[in-house]
Amino acid sequence: MPKIIKRVAVLTSGGDSPGMNAAIRSVVRTCAFHKIQCIGIYRGYQGMIEGDFIEMGPRSVHNIINKGGTILKSARSKEFMTVEGRKKAYAELIKAEIDGFVVIGGDGSFTGAQIFNKEFKFPVMGIPGTIDNDIFGTSHTLGYDTALNTVIECIDKIRDTASSHNRLFFVEVMGRDAGHIALNAGIGAGAEEILIPEEDLGLERLVESLRKSKAAGKSSSIVVIAEGDKIGKNVFELKDYVEANLPEYEVRVSVLGHMQRGGSPSCFDRVLASRLGVKAVESLLEGKSNFMVGMLNDKVTLTPLLQAIKGETLIDRELLRVSEIMSV
Ligand code: F6P
Repeated sequence: MPKIIKRVAVLTSGGDSPGMNAAIRSVVRTCAFHKIQCIGIYRGYQGMIEGDFIEMGPRSVHNIINKGGTILKSARSKEFMTVEGRKKAYAELIKAEIDGFVVIGGDGSFTGAQIFNKEFKFPVMGIPGTIDNDIFGTSHTLGYDTALNTVIECIDKIRDTASSHNRLFFVEVMGRDAGHIALNAGIGAGAEEILIPEEDLGLERLVESLRKSKAAGKSSSIVVIAEGDKIGKNVFELKDYVEANLPEYEVRVSVLGHMQRGGSPSCFDRVLASRLGVKAVESLLEGKSNFMVGMLNDKVTLTPLLQAIKGETLIDRELLRVSEIMSV
């Protein structure tokens, strides 16, 4: 017999992403709609361990749908990775009479939830929130669309100055292990070359491609580089290498960094957050647990957490071809 759910907790964990607030709002209001109580947990799993909880109602989430970051704050808790830490967290949840929780975060946060569920048979649901879009079982994670728009807005500005000075720009974007941001924003911003962790372009091919662009009459160029790219040099070493091998280029580097994680969520991310929050709470109420709520082919779906953690998100190789054709 699944446990009757009367009090649901919500937390945000790991790297924040635009749309997390909209997802918190959705979880809180879905609980209110179904006349069950909702508890916010501050600072992710660390706040769970410390019992840092707050009662939330529909009015406690007003005016946040448009806000980046997370009103519940986020953390990467080392203590929750230990059995002792998780035991403390469980004791706090029981003390607060919480019957299940929804965690908004990435694969690290889901791993924590999955282990917790296994150890204590505690109902859990995951909502994918990371700008990297590297979670299996959903075509989009919360914040990815906003981050893409932030990146192309920045690169459009960089393009203005690149073209005024006939310069080559290396723009580093986030994506420690995944090239989705680099690949899609690179195409959207008209990049000459895109370097991603999933594909080793190789230094020589990059130099050759830049040489060809000069010969083709291009006066300025943009190369988009994911922070985890496989070329083996950081973006500043890459600049030195290219300047040494192609003296005709004047190179500048721009690292977009954490600005990609902030800002008001796009309409897409707000709608996604609202849909996923509803499904997460209603699934818990139906007695389901240990799933990630995601979106595939514009339909809200459930994927077992373990599969979401273990599954690989492959890049669309057709996009690599499109990028190559566009930079002719
Ligand atoms: O959220 C994932 C991510 O954006 C990665 O692309 C990046 O490497 C990482 O966060 C950096 O996060 P932090 O500075 O919070 O450790």
